[in-house]
Amino acid sequence: MLAKYYTKMCDLFPKFRKSSRKQMYQLMASGYQKRDWTFMNYGYAPDNATADLVLQAEDEINRTCIQLYHYVAGAVELRGLKLLEVGSGRGGGADYIKRYLNPASVVGVDYSDNAVNLCLEHYRVEGLSFVPGDAENLPFDDQSFDIVLNVESSHCYGSMVDFLAQVKRVLKPGGYFMFADFRNLEQLDELEEQLKQSGMVLLTHENITPNVIKALDADHGRRFANIQRGVPKMLHKLLREFAGNKDTWIYKGFQTGEIVYQNFLLQNI
Ligand SMILES: C[S@@+](CC[C@H](N)C(=O)[O-])C[C@H]1O[C@@H](n2cnc3c(N)ncnc32)[C@H](O)[C@@H]1O
Repeated sequence: MLAKYYTKMCDLFPKFRKSSRKQMYQLMASGYQKRDWTFMNYGYAPDNATADLVLQAEDEINRTCIQLYHYVAGAVELRGLKLLEVGSGRGGGADYIKRYLNPASVVGVDYSDNAVNLCLEHYRVEGLSFVPGDAENLPFDDQSFDIVLNVESSHCYGSMVDFLAQVKRVLKPGGYFMFADFRNLEQLDELEEQLKQSGMVLLTHENITPNVIKALDADHGRRFANIQRGVPKMLHKLLREFAGNKDTWIYKGFQTGEIVYQNFLLQNI
């Protein structure tokens, strides 16, 4: 009930959405600094169970979250390219992409200074860096990246239109924008229109909600146990909502179709 009310407030007041989410991510990064929490997305499970991604043993624990990155970023061969991840959070996705998909460099940017500081402490990977910055005012030169990647972050932004203008600005001509996130059903048309008006070409667009539900089902136990073990009891309900556990408003929204998780690929011209 509280989660639904908060989301309604966020829908009505974009500035409130942006600042309240920022406080939440700042608090989470300062309140839990251990290296064992590196992803903050709902994950992806492929339709075909035999299409399993081969991971190193230490990455298995984050399989579903990694699979989301692998699926979204797998749209284009990344070898040798310069990639920017906007909303890189605790850095697990940027780190995975740099280690497994061999781009020349990966820069993660996030408006939570605390999350960026965690990443700077945790990762020592050549060609992987993290900087603080706002998706709606990116601290990079024009045409400086081949790829912009954005995973489950844009629902927090004050203005999607401003963000898309920044993506277009920092991408080289011909560069790709890989984008995955969820929206309420009634916001889908607006989002598609914003993407079409962005000055980039919409190449592919799909609903991956069933794959996200499948991932949340597979990962339910781990997420539930982490919350029980890692945070004070008074925060359990709130964090279960954030984690997309089975009894939550967001999980039920995915199931009923009221909340839809989509994956897009766009190309700059
Ligand atoms: C749900 S988390 C996802 C993090 C990461 N992409 C992942 O999948 O693990 C959303 C992230 O977007 C970041 N974010 C939200 N609004 C932002 C903004 N305006 N500029 C930059 N980062 C932002 C948050 O700080 C948070 O780290």
